[in-house]
Formats: sequence, structure tokens, C-alpha cells
Amino acid sequence: MLAEERTFVAIKPDGVQRGLIGEVINRFERKGFKILAAKLIQVSDKQAADHYAEHEGKPFYPRLINYIQSGPVFAMVIKGYGAVDSVRHIVGATNPVNADVGTIRADFAQVMEYNVIHASDSISSAEREIAIYFKEDEIFDTWKTKTEELIEEDELL
Ligand code: CMP
Repeated sequence: MLAEERTFVAIKPDGVQRGLIGEVINRFERKGFKILAAKLIQVSDKQAADHYAEHEGKPFYPRLINYIQSGPVFAMVIKGYGAVDSVRHIVGATNPVNADVGTIRADFAQVMEYNVIHASDSISSAEREIAIYFKEDEIFDTWKTKTEELIEEDELL
């Protein structure tokens, strides 16, 4: 059975300031993914520390925390088939220098520390990160895409 996944995506402050919210949403919507939740937020000290706990102590950690709190972030929950890996492909490699042509980071970022967008790297990270930024009652999974309808019909055949 094909499995759907939820993933967490955040457009970082420079992406918001450069007017890239629509561009980024467009890339996920035209893929057919569902946007289950989206909001503009100021990341709190606790959210920043929880989100980037695995990087605490690394040389770039203070800059990472400073960057993510330097202005509003556009946070989203996205759902789709293989969404965690698929969204990461659309986003591109962490270092924009190595990001494939056509990915968000290749198109809109230059350096690893200021790479415009975050996307979860596994299903467990996604669920952990979603819980940092969203309450379950802010997430709307109450409708179906055509792809979901077709795949559910296939399973009845
Ligand atoms: P992000 O997807 O938000 O997850 C962690 C972030 O840390 C990453 O994007 C980069 O912005 C940053 N990062 C990861 N590794 C390095 C590194 N070696 N040097 C600088 N920044 C890094």
C-alpha cells in the first residue's frame, strides 16, 4: 500500500523578507501535496532550541538560532505520498552550492548557513518538528486530493 507522510517545512526569515512564500507554496502545490497547516510566526527561544537541539554545541549553532529568530518564519505542515523525501528533493541539498539545479535552495540561496528553507529529514523528525510549531487542532486533514481518491479507489479493486 502506498503510504502518505506528513512533513514540516519552514521558510526562513530571509525567504519571507524576499517575498518567496508564494513561490515556495506553488512548488509544493503543483506537485499535488496537501498543505494541512500554514502560519507566519516569530520563533520563540524554546521553539528554536527544541528545533535545533541536535546542533547545540556546534560552531554554527549560535548563528543558526540567531538566523531563525531574525524575523518571521512561514511554517507549514505538508502531506503526500513519500512526502518527507520528496519535499527534501524539491528543497535541495543543505548546502545550496551542491543543490540540484531547479531546487529551491539552488534557485534562491548561496550559502549553507542561510539556506532559505528547512524541511524535515525523516518521518520521526517531521512529527517532532510539527509538534514544536503546531497544535493538532491547527492541522486540517479533512479533505482529499484527486490523487488520494484515485489511490483509495485502486485499493478497492
Ligand atoms: P536546516 O535544514 O534548517 O537544518 C539545520 C541547519 O543548520 C541547516 O539547514 C543549515 O542552515 C545549518 N547547517 C547545517 N550544517 C551546517 C554546517 N556544517 N555549517 C553551517 N550551517 C550548517
